[in-house]
Amino acid sequence: MAKAKVAFVCADCGAEHTKWQGQCATCGEWNTLREFILPKTNQAAGRGTPRGGYSGESPRSARLVEINTAGHRRIPSGFAELDRVLGGGFVPGSVALMGGDPGAGKSTLLLQVSTALGRDVRVLYVSGEESLEQIADRARRLELAADALTVASEVTVERVAELVQSEKPALVIVDSIQVMQVQTSESLPGSVTQVRESAAELVRLAKQTGVAVVLVGHVTKEGNLAGPKVLEHMIDCFMMLDAPPGSRYRTLRGLKNRFGAVNELGVFAMTDAGMKEVSNPSAIFLQRPKEMAPGSVVTVTWEGTRPLLVEIQALVDDVQGGYPRRVAVGLDAQRLAMHLAVLHRHCGVSLADQDVFANVVGGVRIGETGADLALLAAAMSSFKNRALPRDLVVFGELGLTGEVRPVPNGQDRLREAQKHGFTRAILPRANRPREAISGIEAHPVASLAQALGVINELPPVDATP
Ligand code: TYD
Ligand code: MG
Repeated sequence: MAKAKVAFVCADCGAEHTKWQGQCATCGEWNTLREFILPKTNQAAGRGTPRGGYSGESPRSARLVEINTAGHRRIPSGFAELDRVLGGGFVPGSVALMGGDPGAGKSTLLLQVSTALGRDVRVLYVSGEESLEQIADRARRLELAADALTVASEVTVERVAELVQSEKPALVIVDSIQVMQVQTSESLPGSVTQVRESAAELVRLAKQTGVAVVLVGHVTKEGNLAGPKVLEHMIDCFMMLDAPPGSRYRTLRGLKNRFGAVNELGVFAMTDAGMKEVSNPSAIFLQRPKEMAPGSVVTVTWEGTRPLLVEIQALVDDVQGGYPRRVAVGLDAQRLAMHLAVLHRHCGVSLADQDVFANVVGGVRIGETGADLALLAAAMSSFKNRALPRDLVVFGELGLTGEVRPVPNGQDRLREAQKHGFTRAILPRANRPREAISGIEAHPVASLAQALGVINELPPVDATP
């Protein structure tokens, strides 16, 4: 057998180096490099079927149209919101990773999925974190039909592979990848190298047996999945379950998907009876008081393949000591600073002696530019202490020259707003509807100055100071 190849992997960022160094050249951390035996050279030793290339068969190429994909039927999860993020269900032979903070509800959701699916397809639920009694207890408390589900409390990948060979499930849940280990590996359980080797073995298992694998991963306090960067390129689908502090709503976002759209958003609520899906998320993120306060405006963002109405709030107040602060939660703070510069340069409004805070209500994170205009509308509303009408929705991207740029899916955004009872919209001129949408008055604008002009002419609202 060839001499085992080694690499040195940083336990912090997962970067790989060929030589040991005291400091990781990628992330700059000290004493984080760990020796890591590359699985490639020891794969033949007693591990299942050899991989392609060692099989003695000649390499295979084919015309794309001749490849039969009928066998790749998806397994619907039973939750429309999860299927949306997955792109239509679990894909046989693929590996999906669900990350999230401890307590976000990953185990709960996946146990619900497993038991719901267990009736129709074989599911194996492997937990390295909880005992079988704890899992059974949770299932009983949630009144899940546990009769059809096989569970195992295991931490070694080899045992999981054996179980897959003997039970032949269509879906395996591994909770969590951080506690899994490869017996033959020398590195410590929980270390980045173990996580990486375990994941590599499970990916191989999925490809060889056609089982769909779902891995659970915990997020570290820096917001990284422990050993995540090393996992991201191995897996087919990466989704994050976010739990905003103090909220019972959970958002599941697709960050990578080889079989579907990314940035899809699924919304759930954590209840006494486990995770419940929220099929009309616009409605929950828009629960606003009757009386409109200055600094609040509603925008329509585009999340994956659907529009979502969210409220943006801003607070503009005299600088409290030192330099002005620009804080954005759920939005990009850099963009906020940039927009304030545009506001000054092109509309003559200076907020240099003001602190500006912005927040997206409900813990939603907006990753697109369609909220730019709404953010400034909210800031101006707070600055002038003038509430905006309740039935107004604002969207559009802002350019550095003060122009309002179009956003994708303008018509669908407008229709979503109209569906939720909005009667006025400020939107980019290039997005103005070709045919009027009944019940909604569109105010197309080409520049920020024009948008502020429209806002000024809106009928006044009884604002509570
Ligand atoms: P869990 O699924 O264990 O989180 P994770 O696996 O992501 O770490 O969820 C645990 C949290 O959810 C815990 O704080 C209690 C809460 N919870 C409910 O509110 N309702 C329920 O029905 C269940 C099972 C848990
Ligand atoms: Mg858990």
